Amino acid sequence: MIKKFLDLGMQPLANKYLKKKNKIEKTKEQFYHLEVGFNPKIKLVSILNTIPAKKMFDDNYPYRSSMSRTMLLSFKKLAKKIINSYNPNFILEIGSNDGSLIKNFDKKKVICVEPCKNLAKITKKMGYKTYESFWNMRLAKKIKSKIKKIDLIYSSNTLSHINNLNSVFESITNILSNDGILIIEDPSLLDCLKKVSYDQFYNEHIYVFSLLSINNLIKKYKLEVFNIEKLNIHGGSLRYYIKKTSNKKYKVSKKVIVQLNKELRHGINKFSTYIKFKNKVENSKEKLNKFFLKLKGKNKKIIGYGATAKSSTVLNYCKVKNETLDYFLDTTPGKAGKYMPGTHIYIKSYSKRLLNRADYAFLGAWNFKKEIFNKEKQYIKRGGKFITHVPIPRII
Ligand code: TMP
Repeated sequence: MIKKFLDLGMQPLANKYLKKKNKIEKTKEQFYHLEVGFNPKIKLVSILNTIPAKKMFDDNYPYRSSMSRTMLLSFKKLAKKIINSYNPNFILEIGSNDGSLIKNFDKKKVICVEPCKNLAKITKKMGYKTYESFWNMRLAKKIKSKIKKIDLIYSSNTLSHINNLNSVFESITNILSNDGILIIEDPSLLDCLKKVSYDQFYNEHIYVFSLLSINNLIKKYKLEVFNIEKLNIHGGSLRYYIKKTSNKKYKVSKKVIVQLNKELRHGINKFSTYIKFKNKVENSKEKLNKFFLKLKGKNKKIIGYGATAKSSTVLNYCKVKNETLDYFLDTTPGKAGKYMPGTHIYIKSYSKRLLNRADYAFLGAWNFKKEIFNKEKQYIKRGGKFITHVPIPRII
């Protein structure tokens, strides 16, 4: 039984950027109740009301992992590590997006799986074999019949989006060679709790994993985590290195034990921890709204920086609309010229000129704070300020 601990109100689909203002008024946007709960048996945190995958991952999916230098660098480093440490025969990527990772590998040694047509088209064009499909047992069997040995499976920010985790791990176990490695990376629950980054929750993020919950999920498939890495990506992620328990080639690293102990010390296994988190989230909302009210009272121009799916959760939960944020700036071509879901704040194509018009910029992409601050030295120098809600609402 999943125990509910957080209510983030009625929310639109976080990646459904809207086309034209008149369209917004005419068509009914779909809202759903965003509630978050804890499964005390397997210690897994998830949202309670899920949306059919086809509604979220369609032919117009806007998120592009190549839009950030931080991401590209992280993928490049990982590719190097994969080649040096494991030298795989064949790599399968589940949720290959626009090919940011696989472009570091030989075209003959990689298979991409990507359900969003617009993204699959990109990797196909790059010359990579791409299955335009959701990940499931049928596809796993189809690929297995064509490729003898798949000894590395990678999936970043994808498994947490798939409702049926049993099917995910069953099909991965089926296709992965006995000496193969599965690498997954997703936002870390411990980071989410510590940073009060409740915006990790939205329709697509069905789960926010911890090492503890991953262990509980995979043990019945005779899989185990043998190494782990902490990443700054997406506001704090964990990269899990997983093998079949029968594979004795790799010893379980001390880092795995250290991470597990950290999670347990934080009380990730106890419901009371989530109640404390809920109280912090409610305080965060109150404080952020106070900031906006005060700044607007002083006639300050506030905009949004990075029209992220995460910021959709924050703005809809805190009921911040375009009376508060004049517009968002974003570098993603598919987002500019559209409106934020639910709040209908307009998204403009990023330019320094538009940023310099603002007194304050709400950091929707707070997870890329370092990259953005490096880029915006001039804005900061001339007195421009950023607002973030992580870990508590504050002006920087
Ligand atoms: P994400 O947090 O879901 O990865 O999305 C990051 C969004 O922020 C994406 O739409 C691109 C945008 N962005 C900018 O507009 N400027 C930047 O400098 C960075 C790093 C990201």
